[in-house]
Amino acid sequence: MRPCVKTEIIDRIAWVTIDNPPVNATSTAVRSELLQAINDIQGCKLAVLQCAGKTFVAGGDMSEFDAPPAAPHLPDVVNAIENSPVPFLAILHGSVLGGGLEIAMACAYRIAKPGTKFGLPEVNVGLIPGAGGTQRAPRLLGWEAAVKMACLGQLASAQELLELGAIDAVSDDPRSQVATFIDRPFVPVSTRDVPPSQIMDTLGETVRRSAKGRIAPLHNFTALQWAAAPYKTSQPKERTLHLALRQSDESKALRHIFFAERASSRPEALRGTTPQPVASVAIVGGGLMGCGIASACLNAGHSVHIVERDVEAAAKATDTVRGLLQGALERGKISEEQFQGRLKAFHASDIYADIAHVDLAIEAVFEDLAAKQDVFNELSRVMRPDALLATNTSYLDPNDIFAGVPNPERCLGLHFFSPAHIMKLVEVIRTQSTGMSALASGFAFAKGLRKTPVLAGVCDGFIGNRILAAYRRAAEYLLADGALPYEVDAAMRAFGMAMGPFEAQDQSGLQIAEANRRRQDVNRDPNERYVTISDRLCAKGRLGRRSGMGWYSYSAGSKAPQCDPQVEEIIFDYRAKTGLSQTKFTAEDIQTQLLTAMANEGARIVEEGIADSAADVDVVKTSGYGFPRWRGGPMHWATMVGPDALIATLNTMDQASPGSWIRASKYSNTSFDQR
Ligand code: NAI
Repeated sequence: MRPCVKTEIIDRIAWVTIDNPPVNATSTAVRSELLQAINDIQGCKLAVLQCAGKTFVAGGDMSEFDAPPAAPHLPDVVNAIENSPVPFLAILHGSVLGGGLEIAMACAYRIAKPGTKFGLPEVNVGLIPGAGGTQRAPRLLGWEAAVKMACLGQLASAQELLELGAIDAVSDDPRSQVATFIDRPFVPVSTRDVPPSQIMDTLGETVRRSAKGRIAPLHNFTALQWAAAPYKTSQPKERTLHLALRQSDESKALRHIFFAERASSRPEALRGTTPQPVASVAIVGGGLMGCGIASACLNAGHSVHIVERDVEAAAKATDTVRGLLQGALERGKISEEQFQGRLKAFHASDIYADIAHVDLAIEAVFEDLAAKQDVFNELSRVMRPDALLATNTSYLDPNDIFAGVPNPERCLGLHFFSPAHIMKLVEVIRTQSTGMSALASGFAFAKGLRKTPVLAGVCDGFIGNRILAAYRRAAEYLLADGALPYEVDAAMRAFGMAMGPFEAQDQSGLQIAEANRRRQDVNRDPNERYVTISDRLCAKGRLGRRSGMGWYSYSAGSKAPQCDPQVEEIIFDYRAKTGLSQTKFTAEDIQTQLLTAMANEGARIVEEGIADSAADVDVVKTSGYGFPRWRGGPMHWATMVGPDALIATLNTMDQASPGSWIRASKYSNTSFDQR
């Protein structure tokens, strides 16, 4: 095996270089070779610790976290660096994260290249640092920066660390400064005094508020406070807690979704396929989605042209895109220069000939098959025969949308989520004709926008909206059988969802789901239970937040949804007319049934080959539908509760709504009966 750590001694300066691509993670090999290097450099005046490649150590090797920890352990390596008779100077670049920052903090001195980012992101995978990170950070960075990094997962810049006195210099050419560190006095960080902690009450409140059900931020806060005790007694406590948290449900879920996201963005089928370059993008339809997609493309450095129905609509789209960019400027996300650059790269008109040259066109007009087909007729007429053509349709069949387009292998779905300049998920839809090159291009393009692409086949609603439909149906059955909307929403929020199903419908507008139900009327299985409560709300003009009322009412000036007796009346009236017996559902009953509905639909989607894997389904739900990452997604949840529990819940749901749930074969009743 090639070595991961190289040591070269020149004029009694030891140059210790970690070279463990891609991110110099602190694998077992790196840890043991670092320990060896510390032994090999005795007699030197200074040791310079640096990394090859694009970054300093950017974390631990998470693939090792499921196995029992292997020696040498990181805390021992970090302590050996701090206690080495040869003082260490860390040269930092790229991302100095987790174990990387723990190593850097154990060095006697630190120089960073401009642009270096620092952080303790263990909290993002449900952990606390385990090698002195929480004990050295308050001593080196102060409480505020330590809490922001360890509890909130925030990153800090080299300049911020310089201002905090946590690094010695920021330099484009750190090597030229090495000699100035020989014999420079220093105080090891772990022996320094901890600063006074008056602000900890306020910081603690911020951490508690941001935790939203997660435990890792709270554990990080507790561990930071242990720094008040001597390092020798507090660091072993940190290590013990770190190892215990590796076994927590939260950490397992977050690690699952971390690996799931990495896998979903590199589908097996696309290995070795070269994507087509995309520099210029046309978007047809500059409404809610078109403008959001335009803004995301501009932020990624593409030139963008929106084609609208007429000049007025094009002018309106220009205003909307400008507004989105202005918002980014005001929030400090982009500079004035970048703002101006993006405006220059943007155009809008009502003329197809203006986009004849572009590499990719994304259609985002009304959800109407004929309108979309007309758009692609125009696009195929004016654009290059090899230009990529994509639709953002939510529910229509892209095979129908692209019917008759020449060279259909270049056609695909790129399903963005609202607001498209913010939401990470993009479902990349493969039609029966989509070629590998177009798919690979869709993935490369989405990744270039810093989105999370997931491959999906064609079915009603693709992956995400199809599961959403099952979830909503299960929620409406609960209303019919005894629950109220605010009870369902509160239960799902308590589970960790960003919003409950009824609040979420109010947010997006009930007419979207209604139009969808009407479209499905023709093909709906007559045995499937159909609850008309939603339809009754729509008939009364209760279309959601924008109409001032939906499942809740919204008074002007107040953002909070209010329970509305009229909604209860509609529900009670429906129950009375259908004569259904009523059940008192607990929050746990509600959570279990709705999550089971999602997991069952997700499993069917995988069995039908619409999604490549259960992990892909989890990525869709966590990155596009407000499912809490720290729960790992519905399929991970199903794995945690086990098939027996799911089958039992499906049996209960079947009893309440016979013939309404088609089961994934892995949850079929037969296998339950055979046990
Ligand atoms: P929207 O109604 O806000 O915008 C549609 C725009 O298309 C309008 O500005 C309209 O003037 C323009 N348009 C209509 N026909 C046109 C034509 N022939 N040529 C040029 N422009 C034309 O609709 P929205 O919400 O942006 O949806 C667009 C598409 O994106 C739909 O297919 C929808 O299903 C899909 N989608 C919507 C999501 C949402 O949350 N609203 C989420 C994901 C996908």
